[in-house]
Amino acid sequence: MSQNTGLIKIRKDIDAGVNPNRRTFMKTAALTGVAALVTGVPLASYVISPSLDKGTGKWIDFGPVEDLEPGRVEMLSYEFMVKDGWLVLPQRGFVWAKTEPGGELRVFSSTCTHLACNVIWREEEEVFVCPCHSGRFDANGQNIAGPPTKPLAVLEHKVDDGNLKVFMTV
Ligand code: FES
Repeated sequence: MSQNTGLIKIRKDIDAGVNPNRRTFMKTAALTGVAALVTGVPLASYVISPSLDKGTGKWIDFGPVEDLEPGRVEMLSYEFMVKDGWLVLPQRGFVWAKTEPGGELRVFSSTCTHLACNVIWREEEEVFVCPCHSGRFDANGQNIAGPPTKPLAVLEHKVDDGNLKVFMTV
């Protein structure tokens, strides 16, 4: 008998020694794994994805643009609901709209670029002042005094059907 024939015989003996219960178990385990993948992945994404779901921004309607007085800086308040994972929470705040006498409009974020307090417009001095650390910004939002090293953010806006809409990040 050659050496190859001996190996084949040993292989057949090993195959014959496999317990049918073990085969059944292996098949069941494989099928269970496939079933878990087919149902588990969509189920897990359904459960987990809302907790990771954060919007990036939305257009907020501030009403008729003709209500803004040319040459003035006006505070415009907002409140909208934000989905944060499973929660829906109100987001409140305000922006500053500056209308030039020629009609050009700019909308500034009220968030100080130092540590995110809200800046207030001081009409008599024509500056935005931050109450937290006395940061100051000129009427164009440029940082002019105190700790802020960057100007106020200018927010994207558009006039849609006569209404001022501002893009707010959420
Ligand atoms: S947070 Fe505005 S100056 Fe510090």
